[in-house]
Amino acid sequence: MVLIEWDDDFAVGSPALDKDHRDLIADINGLYEQLGSGEHDLTVIDFIDAVHDHAREHFVREEAVMLENDYPEYEDHKAEHERFLERLSELQDEYQDEEGNEDGGMSLWLSHWLINHFRVYDARLQPASEENKQES
Ligand SMILES: [Fe+2]
Ligand SMILES: [Fe+2]
Repeated sequence: MVLIEWDDDFAVGSPALDKDHRDLIADINGLYEQLGSGEHDLTVIDFIDAVHDHAREHFVREEAVMLENDYPEYEDHKAEHERFLERLSELQDEYQDEEGNEDGGMSLWLSHWLINHFRVYDARLQPASEENKQES
């Protein structure tokens, strides 16, 4: 079962950023599947690492678009990205400490955070990222 389905609301109009958003959804769906399949813990840890790395790389690209466009909510938006990465690291540590005891809270938190962030924060980037379209 897929946890998050792509929705056109998740697009910001920049091909590079939209591809990142699709990839992040695929990562989280992959993690959800691994957690539900009873796979070896190491596989789950690899999936969490992938979500962390891809999110960090995406945030760097998105923040660059904001800076290039003098986006007024840059600081707030960047702080949200940082909180996400910190929380994901904590969840990863908790997962390791609890030796793989995960009740589904992690993938649910990830999906809620991502959907909310796309709709509330990233949706406001649309005019800025549209202007950037040619460069991406
Ligand atoms: Fe984003
Ligand atoms: Fe964002």
